[in-house]
Amino acid sequence: MAKTLIKNGTVVTATEKMEADVLVEDDKVAAIFAPGTMEVSAETVVDAKACLVIPGGIDVHTHMELPFGGTFAADTFETGTRAAAWGGTTTIIDFAVQTKGESAMEGWEAWMEKARGNCAIDYGFHMITGDINDQTIKEMELLVREGVTSFKMFMAYPGVFYSDDGQILRAMQKAAEDGSTICMHAENGIAIDVLVEQALERGETDPIYHGMVRRSILEGEATHRAIKLAELTGAQLYIVHLSAWEALDEVTLARDEGLNVWAETCPQYLFLSLDDLGNGFEGAKYVCSPPLRDEDEGHQERLWRGLRTNDLQIVSTDHCPFCMGDHHTFGTQKQLGRGDFSKIPNGMPGVENRMELIYSGGVDEGRISLNRFVEITATAPAKMFGLFPKKGTIAVGSDADIVVFDPDGTHVISADTHHMDVDYSAYEGWEMTGNVKTVLSKGKVIISDDSYHGKPGDGEYLARGQSQLSV
Ligand code: URP
Ligand code: ZN
Ligand code: ZN
Repeated sequence: MAKTLIKNGTVVTATEKMEADVLVEDDKVAAIFAPGTMEVSAETVVDAKACLVIPGGIDVHTHMELPFGGTFAADTFETGTRAAAWGGTTTIIDFAVQTKGESAMEGWEAWMEKARGNCAIDYGFHMITGDINDQTIKEMELLVREGVTSFKMFMAYPGVFYSDDGQILRAMQKAAEDGSTICMHAENGIAIDVLVEQALERGETDPIYHGMVRRSILEGEATHRAIKLAELTGAQLYIVHLSAWEALDEVTLARDEGLNVWAETCPQYLFLSLDDLGNGFEGAKYVCSPPLRDEDEGHQERLWRGLRTNDLQIVSTDHCPFCMGDHHTFGTQKQLGRGDFSKIPNGMPGVENRMELIYSGGVDEGRISLNRFVEITATAPAKMFGLFPKKGTIAVGSDADIVVFDPDGTHVISADTHHMDVDYSAYEGWEMTGNVKTVLSKGKVIISDDSYHGKPGDGEYLARGQSQLSV
């Protein structure tokens, strides 16, 4: 039996903060004890002096290799999960894709194939159901048996991933029957496409117009509609990448009414704004949907408040990197939209930056508590998507996915030093307080001393259970 002792640190979970040593046996946490109260000999000793010992992060929204807008997201399962590990994330839930005319089951199998043997950390899948028909409805049940207990639907992107209200209703009826969760991209895509067309006719082609036409009121409207359909059907609903206060108000109201409705936001909506979409084509770096919002409209402040009050439960990244093409070793995906913002592949990199950004900008800046940081980055994600307590906490019997985090360390984010396979950082030059020092994935030290010690295939598929937040 391989034993690892993490000593001299401060263990932090969603509810506790204590001086404690953690004994890991093989891949599990075997004991948590007051320093010096247990005689232990371990082959590996990790000194966590002056550091926090926290559960490995869980990013429930990533898109490795996503096909989008005629190209593919730049990170593979290999590069993206390795970058996640560098940033203190030890589990991802990515999105398998069913496109129009395809079987959902076959879509999932194809994504399993992409990930198998390539991941540095454990991974699960949501299923993007891009074609709701009789067969897909049947396959939803089969997928739940395979541990795919959540289905993403799009009220945006007509002609691509879009589902109409009737299709959403049918999928929600099935999800309610099976106890699975509908994850919703809530933007009114039909209305947005008219605004896009009108903007292009006026010659408004720069990335900034992506942010201007995808109005926050249309996120609020779609969120309202999704909630009403969930209420009607009794389905559990999880709003993904929530960016606007109008949408947050709808979620808050639904939760106050006792509905099984939850929502995540992402670092880009907490830290970046419409201004970043300016500066000509440079703004393409920041094109994602929903878009970054106008700082003066108060979205960021309300999102932080939502995270504090549990109207928002989770911070994920929606990691979906496309290269700008300024560097010869990388791709040029974002260039597809030069001269037409609607052709810029939607998405931003971030899987490596989530933990540091939320610690630095959240805990260190006094916006959220340390326990809440752990809760929104690890514990709630595990509970929301049926992985708790195997994942998402440090407890006897849990997987030893553990991060030793130096709260006083500092570093600067840069594309020159990050590990994501993308040629820019949305946070270039930002100074962070708090460093990921050591990362254990299932008991194995995969990051320490500024080196990666893992290998592709260390990460395994996670068949997930039903949401543990539903009542
Ligand atoms: O812009 C985004 N969000 N790209 C990824 C696909 C999605 O909608 O989540
Ligand atoms: Zn989306
Ligand atoms: Zn996404």
